[in-house]
Amino acid sequence: MSASKRVLLIIAGGIAAYKALDVIRRGRERGLTFRVILTKGGAQFVTPLSVSALSGHKVYGDLFSLTDEAEMGHIRLVREADLVVVAPATADIIAKMAHGLADDLATTALLANDRPVLIAPSMNAVMWAHPAVQANIATLRARGVFTVGPGAGDLACGEVGDGRLADPLDIVGAMLARLAPGPLAGLKALVTSGPTFEAIDPVRFIGNRSSGKQGHAIAAALAAAGAATTLISGPTAEPDPAGCKVIHIESAAEMLAAAQNALPADIAICAAAVSDWRPAHLANQKMKKREGGEPPRIELATNPDILATLAAAGPQRPRLVVGFAAETERVVEFAQVKRAKKQCDWILANDVSPQTGTFGGAENEVHFITASGAEAWPRLSKRELAARLAARIADHFGKSVA
Ligand code: CTP
Repeated sequence: MSASKRVLLIIAGGIAAYKALDVIRRGRERGLTFRVILTKGGAQFVTPLSVSALSGHKVYGDLFSLTDEAEMGHIRLVREADLVVVAPATADIIAKMAHGLADDLATTALLANDRPVLIAPSMNAVMWAHPAVQANIATLRARGVFTVGPGAGDLACGEVGDGRLADPLDIVGAMLARLAPGPLAGLKALVTSGPTFEAIDPVRFIGNRSSGKQGHAIAAALAAAGAATTLISGPTAEPDPAGCKVIHIESAAEMLAAAQNALPADIAICAAAVSDWRPAHLANQKMKKREGGEPPRIELATNPDILATLAAAGPQRPRLVVGFAAETERVVEFAQVKRAKKQCDWILANDVSPQTGTFGGAENEVHFITASGAEAWPRLSKRELAARLAARIADHFGKSVA
């Protein structure tokens, strides 16, 4: 790790703030440099003097201090960082980040920030489990914020449970992982995942059983490999993967609009099980049964093909467009035809017959299909398959990018 990696560390007001001192020490041992913002609350637990002695730099705390602003304004503080870390991240600062509040130097800097953010939550276990905190964490994750911890164990308040600040060495490890340039660093990826729901009326829809497990795992693997990844997800029970920007949509039309919005991109992976059809007419009110009447007939309209649209996006076409082919027979043959028809570069073809357990299951077995042929990949967990695909993509760009 080069000595020039710069971390802007925000120490918020939690009892675990003292551990942030160890984070600085361990991080510096590993070549990181630190600028530190100590919030008012943080300064109740550790002194600016100890932070400055350990970091080797002046500590920042006051948004309105003229000297601080003259020497190093809050904008420059974030612009000069490679990574922004909040440790400990209290329920309060997490809520402020989620809602965009900017009432002190730390939160103003966070709002003016365009660098990757890693937070290490720390709080009482009941606070951590509170739906408000969990909703805020979900919001931050959906925006691409990385989290490390919290862990389980004895808490400073005397209770036991989830909420302990991650070990300082683990926090430094997570920082180094975020700072290491992954093989896909500098590339932009978009991934579609999950089913689409096509509304019949305000309460009914046409959908499918896609779990989103494979698409979400791919988005996570691309982000972990350093690609700036946007995940466009239909309704699934899968949590938002770390490090991705996640856009939640319901219908194929919304998925297409979100995918087009995410262009330009270098890589597009369409793993979503997009509904091929939608009701041609959306009933504005819930459709009622008529006494002794016929069941309604639902006329269908064809949905746009997102994969084919991206592959035909002209100058906006991602350099690598990858699709999936769900087949129940003659898998490779049908997938080759699909690849040619949809004009994508690669297809991962899988057998989705019920006996394979692929739909909704944790494993997948695919044929990897390119213009030059088909390769049978072994049965892998969806996560392993995602990692293998990410490595393949890195290979591809390693070869084709000058
Ligand atoms: N796909 C898409 N938009 C659609 C339909 C499919 O982006 N409206 C993408 C899927 O994400 C997948 C690939 O196309 O990457 C193949 O999907 P699949 O359902 O296997 O193929 P279909 O085109 O629907 O063909 P068929 O159902 O006739 O096999």
